[in-house]
Amino acid sequence: MGRLRHCFIIRSPHGNSRICIKAEGFLELQKYLDKHHKGGRVAVISDTNVAGIYHDRIKSALPEADIFVTEAGEKSKTMKVAEALCADLLEAGFTRKDVVVGLGGGMITDLAGFVASVYMRGVPFIAMPTTLLAMIDAAVGGKTGVNLGAKNIIGTFYPAEAVLVDQAFLKTLPEREMKTGMAEAIKYATILDASLERDLIANQPDLRPILEKSIAAKVQVCNEDLKESGLRKVLNFGHTFGHAIEYLSRYKLTHGEAISIGMVLANKIAQKLGRQSKAHGDRISEMLKKHGLPTEVPKYIKLKEVIEMVYRDKKMDGQKVTFILSLGMGQHKIVKLTPDELMKMLK
Ligand SMILES: NC(=O)c1ccc[n+]([C@@H]2O[C@H](COP(=O)([O-])OP(=O)(O)OC[C@H]3O[C@@H](n4cnc5c(N)ncnc54)[C@H](O)[C@@H]3O)[C@@H](O)[C@H]2O)c1
Ligand SMILES: [Zn+2]
Repeated sequence: MGRLRHCFIIRSPHGNSRICIKAEGFLELQKYLDKHHKGGRVAVISDTNVAGIYHDRIKSALPEADIFVTEAGEKSKTMKVAEALCADLLEAGFTRKDVVVGLGGGMITDLAGFVASVYMRGVPFIAMPTTLLAMIDAAVGGKTGVNLGAKNIIGTFYPAEAVLVDQAFLKTLPEREMKTGMAEAIKYATILDASLERDLIANQPDLRPILEKSIAAKVQVCNEDLKESGLRKVLNFGHTFGHAIEYLSRYKLTHGEAISIGMVLANKIAQKLGRQSKAHGDRISEMLKKHGLPTEVPKYIKLKEVIEMVYRDKKMDGQKVTFILSLGMGQHKIVKLTPDELMKMLK
């Protein structure tokens, strides 16, 4: 294997973002703040689970920091909570010179990034992702947001000036959350980086190359297409079905479990279109199963409902919906299909 890369840069009109994989994340944060924000105050935004585990570590690394804790879970990703956090920052006297650090999973990096982007028209933002999903996906790429009925209806492009990725956080992450992140890594292997497959099917997968290659894949896509006009769409592999399945399961399935099933359905379409061999589809399913991810639509969800839901999706484009197909490991293709075409293929 080649030399591992520690740092990546995403360049954008909204500013550059440096994503670094480092051990001793809190020490790195301390060093970074000393170098780039000396004299500035620090607001750490986190959730009840993460702050519960890491409170003392935050306090010993950053004794002066103010810690703002929100309830864990997607229900906190709202305007109301964002507004309350802004009010807390104001009351505590935070100014434009000060820094917001988002310490948590994707819920927190989205929420804290959003708060940082609007508080006093924008204050410096640093992300410290603590879930695998946030390390390889949510905290990388500059999208922030809160939900308004549907997901991420209100949001901004506001790249974190630094994203500090320390895999040691994953030691305390519940297993099911770990699997949900693995589903995104499998997505990257399938459509962008074939070499990830070997790391993912290893008997005792080494997280380091999985983190590095997954981040590299997302960084590459973001650098080529920051505003989702083209290439960024490929990141939706498995997600068009996945979002519908996640919703129809009433969130009993995690995001990763739902996109795992979504990837298998996308493979079914690719095979019906003659664009994917059965052997390739089976390889992807094997990777998913190896990480304990489901590959079949649960009995309590009807395929017809999934298709109806897909065509209500916000990424609708006329009558046709865009699907990402995997042609071979690391290779993708974008197709557009009508509901009838889709129904015939999935029957
Ligand atoms: N901005 C983007 O580009 C982007 C991309 C993908 C997903 N997202 C967003 O990310 C969110 C999902 O992120 P997530 O899956 O990380 O969920 P999450 O942030 O809700 O975290 C999952 C659970 O793990 C807990 N947790 C986090 N880190 C922990 C740790 N180290 N130890 C123990 N427990 C820990 C959390 O408290 C939570 O209960 C969604 O809101 C989604 O919309 C954003
Ligand atoms: Zn996803």
